Amino acid sequence: MAHYEITGGNRLEGVVTISGAKNAALAIIPAAILAGESCLLENLPTIEDVHILEKILRKMGAEVDFTPDGTMRVDAHGIHDHSVTFDMVSSLRASYYLLGALLGRYGHAQVALPGGCAIGQRPIDQHIKGLRALGADIQIEGGIIHANAKRLTGAEIYLDVVSVGATINIMLAAVGAEGQTVIANAAKEPHVVDVANFLNMMGANVKGAGTDVIRIQGGRKLRGCTYAIIPDQIEAGTFMIAAAATGGDVVINNVIPPHLEAISAKLMESGVRVTEGDDGREFFLRVTADVRPRAVNIKTLPYPGFPTDLQQPMMALLSAAEGSSFIVENIFEERFNHVPELQRMGAEIHVNGRTAFIQGRPKLSAASLYASDLRAGAALIVAALMAEGTSRVHNIHFIDRGYEFFEQKLRAIGANIKRVED
Ligand code: EPZ
Repeated sequence: MAHYEITGGNRLEGVVTISGAKNAALAIIPAAILAGESCLLENLPTIEDVHILEKILRKMGAEVDFTPDGTMRVDAHGIHDHSVTFDMVSSLRASYYLLGALLGRYGHAQVALPGGCAIGQRPIDQHIKGLRALGADIQIEGGIIHANAKRLTGAEIYLDVVSVGATINIMLAAVGAEGQTVIANAAKEPHVVDVANFLNMMGANVKGAGTDVIRIQGGRKLRGCTYAIIPDQIEAGTFMIAAAATGGDVVINNVIPPHLEAISAKLMESGVRVTEGDDGREFFLRVTADVRPRAVNIKTLPYPGFPTDLQQPMMALLSAAEGSSFIVENIFEERFNHVPELQRMGAEIHVNGRTAFIQGRPKLSAASLYASDLRAGAALIVAALMAEGTSRVHNIHFIDRGYEFFEQKLRAIGANIKRVED
């Protein structure tokens, strides 16, 4: 185990480059199974979650070569084991994407039900509903989802909840279903579009990703391909918030600005300057905060609304902003576990159900802090970068799961942060 030692007060200044999107990688790697031949994936983040998925695929019989430059070759033709055990799913809940991929490719799968986690119950009823609509026989016994389909047939599926996971899982199975599948009330996140683009690169016919209605013409033979995933808009947003929180001036390279409109708009509303540019090859955003950010109100919503994954880092910033604000967490029912930790730094936050009321304080004070999940960890790091004194952030294995080279990137723009083995 390790923890970060962070001494606050430094303005973040300089240039940071964003890595590949974790939530695109965790869906596209399982999707590569559908080709049954070699796929070359590029720009993958070298984070713990991707290493876990690499090990799971290898255990199932796929050939997987993941090189430190973020390139991964996946060749699924040798897969002999179509089961994903509980310890696999509990180590990485996104391994449930293998359910849709295995069904779409082989017509059967056994995947352990993922449990809840630190941010909520996280049911997968919409995934199951969609797969059953495609003709899969789904039985849940002993915590295992037994899915079998002699043949999958396209269907009209209306999602009761806008769900990223359900949209993607159904898409993966639908490419193996004869005829047309329509997913209505679909999630529109950038990584949903990235998965659709990857499937089309393999020869699938997926239209409408990024809108509420996705149409898939299934039953086509898919082939291997080379595909580079999109940059991580949540990593980018985290750095934008850290720059604003420390009164910094940071250029954030390798972003897709439309993916960051909600966070850019909120930071500009708080008095922070966000400008866009490109160096001829890739886009960048420059975040400059020479005044203390003003309090702003946040309501998390499915894309293109304010992303729930940035709610926690944003709350850290608002804890030291000018004025009072509120955050309504509309996506997950328990995504305030970082609040007690911020309160120990002097933050004035009152939680009432899904709403947190924040009274900005002039300064937070350093403390020994415990991350409860990935984005809570990011929030505590942002708070520690602002606070007076030296904080310790524990449980940083959560950070290692979703942020590539996080402390190195922060140090390179002036943060006083070091990793200390416990
Ligand atoms: C994905 O989770 C992301 N994870 C999450 O990021 C992200 O917070 C979330 O989307 C929302 O953007 C990955 O992509 C690996 P959902 P997912 O299904 O797919 C309810 C991070 O920090 N729901 O869109 O699980 C659910 O309970 C992680 O990178 C059902 O009710 O999210 C939630 O309230 C955290 N039934 C809401 O929908 C279902 O069948 C949205 O969940 C599925 C979901």
